[in-house]
Amino acid sequence: MPESTARRTIIDPMTDSTFSQFSQFIQTELGIKMPPTKKVMLQARLHKRLWKLGLDSFDAYYEYVFSPDGREHELPQMINVVTTNKTDFFREPNHFDFLVEHVLPKMIKRHGLEKRFTLWCAGSSSGEEPYSLAMVLHNYSEQVHGFKFFILATDISTKVLDKAKLGIYDEESAEPIPVIFRQKYLLRSKERDKGLVRVSPEIRSFVRFRRLNLIKSDFGLRETVDIIFCRNVIIYFNRETQEHVINKLYHHLSPGGYLFTGHSETLNGHSVPLKAVAHTVYQKEFNGDKSSHFPVITLKPAELFVSERPVIVRTVLGSCVAVTMYNRQHGISAICHALLPDGDKYASELDSQTGSGPYKYVNTAIPIMLQRLRNYGIDPKDLEVKLFGGADMMVTDSENPNPHPVGQSNIHAVLKIIKAQHLTLTVSDVGGHLGRKLLFYTHTGEVLLKRIQSSTELDSPL
Ligand SMILES: C[S@@+](CC[C@H](N)C(=O)[O-])C[C@H]1O[C@@H](n2cnc3c(N)ncnc32)[C@H](O)[C@@H]1O
Repeated sequence: MPESTARRTIIDPMTDSTFSQFSQFIQTELGIKMPPTKKVMLQARLHKRLWKLGLDSFDAYYEYVFSPDGREHELPQMINVVTTNKTDFFREPNHFDFLVEHVLPKMIKRHGLEKRFTLWCAGSSSGEEPYSLAMVLHNYSEQVHGFKFFILATDISTKVLDKAKLGIYDEESAEPIPVIFRQKYLLRSKERDKGLVRVSPEIRSFVRFRRLNLIKSDFGLRETVDIIFCRNVIIYFNRETQEHVINKLYHHLSPGGYLFTGHSETLNGHSVPLKAVAHTVYQKEFNGDKSSHFPVITLKPAELFVSERPVIVRTVLGSCVAVTMYNRQHGISAICHALLPDGDKYASELDSQTGSGPYKYVNTAIPIMLQRLRNYGIDPKDLEVKLFGGADMMVTDSENPNPHPVGQSNIHAVLKIIKAQHLTLTVSDVGGHLGRKLLFYTHTGEVLLKRIQSSTELDSPL
């Protein structure tokens, strides 16, 4: 829809039912709390968009924003106006002092200077926070020779990310930057009267900006990071979402890594396995998951497990398949470990060897999982489904491959059910000739996977 230059039309107030539709979307998709007390604020922010588009009612805007064209062109704009992006250079400055005086020396002592330290600034807004970090760390690298670092900065709002990438700010907003850093790391605009400064290319080169929604299940980050700054972001989320996001950040932290939250965002009372080391600074223990206070259970072949509480489920797969299901809204998960595709076909042959039972077969275990989740009021279309395993463990000779690999049949059986039930498969890691060890985190739906190179690894920790 083209943006309008027409005169502003009078727009009727948003109805309660339209507000509740917007608020539901904003809470579930962005994590941001939107109680009825925020209706006036939401209307004021969306007014600008209605005027731009020449629309005369919030209902028409709602219809447009969730149409195929609107989802592509308007939804990012709506997210831009809904998010609160307040930030500053050197906001909450004692965090930067703590970083340099305590965190970095400890990390260097442990890891040496061989590695490049990685930081993630999650909810980085228009760039003032990651650039403050880059200035502090660059200055540190001049004192500690050999110290190397890289910063990933992410936000959900495309508008702030565009500004951040440019690195151009009002002179006034640069005032909190220590004078020595301003002299070293800022360039003045040639046109003095514009009152603008730009972060130097060298400092900009340490920071990469990317759009990322902290609510989405897969952050798409391949490696863990040493330090996370996620400040003044979760304060806008409800308690359940806060805990969910912090647990996900935890999984992206290296053992011994640190999480910095905003000064009013303490994790007291939250169920997260992080140790407070200073006010709003937390550390992940070195032995990582083993030290977490979440119970660990082992799922044996032909077993199925459904959980509404945080549990780490461990299982080992060869030709068997594990299917995990997770509903973010309710925080409920299920996992099954099936050995064979189809009860009818294999039951008589193999029940005598492995015992019978409905969870042994893909074609009965998955429908049972779905039914159990439906009992919690979960619609299967709101599940994130993941599939693992199905290796062909029998093949030793590539010239004489196994003509009936059970692993392949298991995979096909799962995919057939997924299609028939209209489920969304978000991740799959299947096939090949190696076994897999999995850790499934029931409170986040995440899976840690390790390939097993040989049978001797079967009992090694994941
Ligand atoms: C108040 S700003 C804080 C900026 C900076 N961290 C600081 O402390 O100065 C919060 C930022 O979080 C971002 N944000 C809100 N919800 C988000 C989500 N679901 N995923 C990623 N970023 C989000 C907003 O776009 C906004 O830029």
